[in-house]
Amino acid sequence: MKALIVSAAGEQPRIADVVLPPVGPGEVRVRIRAAGVCHSDLSMVNGTLAPSYPLVLGHEAAGVVIEVGPEGAGGPVAVGDHVVLNWAPPCRECWHCTHGEPWLCAEGGRPSVPRGHLATGEATHVTLGLGALAEEVVVPSHAVVPVPADIPADVAALLGCAVLTATGAVNRTAEVRAGQSVVVIGLGGVGLAALIAARSAGADPVIGVDLNEAKRDLAVAAGATHFLVSDDTTAKGVRALTGGRGADHAIECAGRAVTIGTAWRATRRGGQVTVVGMGARNDMVSLSALDIFHSARTLRSSVYGSSDPDRDLPALAAAVHDGTVDLTPLITDRISLEAAPDAFDRMSRGLGARSVVLF
Ligand code: APR
Ligand code: ZN
Repeated sequence: MKALIVSAAGEQPRIADVVLPPVGPGEVRVRIRAAGVCHSDLSMVNGTLAPSYPLVLGHEAAGVVIEVGPEGAGGPVAVGDHVVLNWAPPCRECWHCTHGEPWLCAEGGRPSVPRGHLATGEATHVTLGLGALAEEVVVPSHAVVPVPADIPADVAALLGCAVLTATGAVNRTAEVRAGQSVVVIGLGGVGLAALIAARSAGADPVIGVDLNEAKRDLAVAAGATHFLVSDDTTAKGVRALTGGRGADHAIECAGRAVTIGTAWRATRRGGQVTVVGMGARNDMVSLSALDIFHSARTLRSSVYGSSDPDRDLPALAAAVHDGTVDLTPLITDRISLEAAPDAFDRMSRGLGARSVVLF
């Protein structure tokens, strides 16, 4: 099958023929219908996440189950089921899983897992246990979540990463309430999904912030009441829009120390910063000890939206299905697998929202 791979950190992604292993006990084979290009894939390409190579990219996807492994029969998924892939399937047995925090399970979210091989025989690895920018995946059956068949595949794909992450960050981690003020910093697929979630929660104002002025129209389409171009006056601009105090919530979706600093200064005394973006190991945040005390702010991160995909993905899918939430503003490019390398290039320049590969 064809897959988008990267051979080594810093190399251009390219299409290659990859041979997947047979479907084993407790596994399923899924034919991918649509897969999004997420910033975490870019972090795999440029080596920020230090995965193993050669690596099949992709972890945000929807498809159809085409084969169920020997012991999978009678399990929760069957051939023909439409599914969204889950890149952090919890083990349900570890301390975090048994204490209501399955999103912190150590089993889920490994950057790369060995699976399959190239035509040359060289072993390949798959991103986050999935490798979903590919015609097919072979994954554990608990890494797929059934969704209604009549949700458009491109939208369904985004549920698995950007939307679950951002919606969970707003509703579950930050617990944004109607009437609260929210600033979202970094408006890629994740940040735009956070704007949609904040608006749905009844937040007002909802302020979008990005380096790139071209994100203004996307922000407004996603429900932002205001848009600010990110610079060293951003926090001041947010305070001006929130009674001089600062926002109740900042949702940081750029994954950078500088934007975490902006998020901190843009929130009010007693406000809350929720870090959604995954930053680099050596990108250090500097906060004043006095300010930490005096501002009484909370700084939290949100891993996979503090969500349990088995519970929360079907709920999101239902909201898409009944029209309660419209995710189409997130998708700016529908492309072929051959065009995916260009999508990485556009993302690294901060252009567009999500590019989704349709198979
Ligand atoms: N100020 C404001 N916006 C910024 C800044 C900054 N200093 N730096 C980058 N951005 C914006 C970019 O212009 C871009 O619009 O952040 C956005 C990031 O969007 P994408 O690259 O599309 O990333 P996305 O897939 O949305 O992921 C965001 O979440 O899952 C993590 O690893 C992922 O850290 C990444 C974050
Ligand atoms: Zn992702």
